[in-house]
Amino acid sequence: MLHLTLRQLKIFESVARLLSYSRAARELHLSQPAVSMQIKLLEENLGLPLFEQIGKKIYMTEAGREMYYYSKAIAEQLGEAELVLAELKGMERGNLKISVASTANYFATQLLASFRQNHPQVTVNLDVTNREALLGQLEQNEIDLAIMGQPPDGHDLIAESFMENPLVVISAPDNPLAGQKRIPVSRLANEILIVREAGSGTRSASERFFQTHQITPLRGLVMNTNEAIKQAVQAGMGLAVVSLHTVSLELETRRLALLDVEFFPIQRHWFIVHRKNKRLSATAQAFKRFLLDEGKAKQAD
Ligand code: PGA
Repeated sequence: MLHLTLRQLKIFESVARLLSYSRAARELHLSQPAVSMQIKLLEENLGLPLFEQIGKKIYMTEAGREMYYYSKAIAEQLGEAELVLAELKGMERGNLKISVASTANYFATQLLASFRQNHPQVTVNLDVTNREALLGQLEQNEIDLAIMGQPPDGHDLIAESFMENPLVVISAPDNPLAGQKRIPVSRLANEILIVREAGSGTRSASERFFQTHQITPLRGLVMNTNEAIKQAVQAGMGLAVVSLHTVSLELETRRLALLDVEFFPIQRHWFIVHRKNKRLSATAQAFKRFLLDEGKAKQAD
């Protein structure tokens, strides 16, 4: 085992890099005799000379060069450890700025609650908004992470899918279509559809679906929350295409019916998204990892 101190290693690294006792002394705010003394002690401990003086110049010996290689590596590792520990300290009291699509809010709050059980000191700033607004917030670098449907290409974003998001057709329980098997998708062309506001991911995905199947349902009402849509459907004002996440309670209590329409559910996914060049804080990285793991665990269920 080598006998040396980190202080000696630091002094040695400086002398070896600058090849000068006096410049190393200046850099380290020490006196030159203090620097020479530490190098002498180090050489004694190692049992080999690290420098040799020829004329007025000093040179590294072979042992010096070897030692210089390792001292640089050790200094780098120590610097890295310092950074990681500082980040971990930061994480305990860290801050998470996250925005979720309004539809994702039906499960996101639950996930945040489980995350905070293991990180009780983390402060969470949660914004609930629609897809269009989320893309704007990412663009303006206003948030760490977003939970949303697949973002479009060309926004310089990293997006990883972590959970399925099936879109289904719902009606009031007393609608004549409720309980029917394999309703042809063309049948929806005669129905009034209650839709989300422009900018909603659910709305654009269902519009794409209807375009593909060349159907134009009668658009009855536009509403900017899933809650309002569910109330309107319950009241018999029309049908709606919504994420299955938003209606589990109403389906269980039979306040809404799930229609068995051909080609449904529309298969979508939830993504955890951030800007490509964003340096995620330790807290944001931990939350992202947590979401990806939770998603995997749910899929395995
Ligand atoms: P929302 O959902 O904007 O319809 O709430 C997000 C998405 O599906 O991308």
